[in-house]
Amino acid sequence: MNREKALDSIKANVENKNLVKHMLATEAIMQALARHFGEDEEEWGLTGILHDIDVELTGGDMNSHGKLGADMASDLGASENTAHAILCHNERHGVACETKLDKALFCVDPLTGLITAAALVRPDKKLGSVEVRSVRKRFKEKSFAAGANREHIARCSEIEFELDEFIELGLAALQGIAADLGL
Ligand SMILES: [Fe+2]
Repeated sequence: MNREKALDSIKANVENKNLVKHMLATEAIMQALARHFGEDEEEWGLTGILHDIDVELTGGDMNSHGKLGADMASDLGASENTAHAILCHNERHGVACETKLDKALFCVDPLTGLITAAALVRPDKKLGSVEVRSVRKRFKEKSFAAGANREHIARCSEIEFELDEFIELGLAALQGIAADLGL
């Protein structure tokens, strides 16, 4: 299992370019968190990049989303930790987030949407002109990027992060791959 294999499978199973960008964004923040915690950067990155690989295959069926993804990740040779994190990132299955990796994926997933939306409302639509405090302000506006679940983002507290620190780390990680995200 490596990143190239993950990307090949994503290319084969995901057409939506924005969904691929979302998975790249999740990967980047997960890697940054792994570095922060001294965890396995490769494993955390693969968990991020693969977590929504089944979205198109499951066609919006939330009872399958995450289950199929976890199976697909396992078939690709991803670790059991990765498969578990992918499974429990969809609350519908009633599988609790147990490990730090599980908890990280759960709160990183919606953070990518909030930060991306914050970039898209900048005059230049660039991540480079987004500041932590503006993301923080947007966090409080419930109608802004409403799909980015605030309660889920706030669960960064479960991995010992203050919200501002979490936004700061996430923003820096996405700024680092801004070209790949087209932002
Ligand atoms: Fe996601």
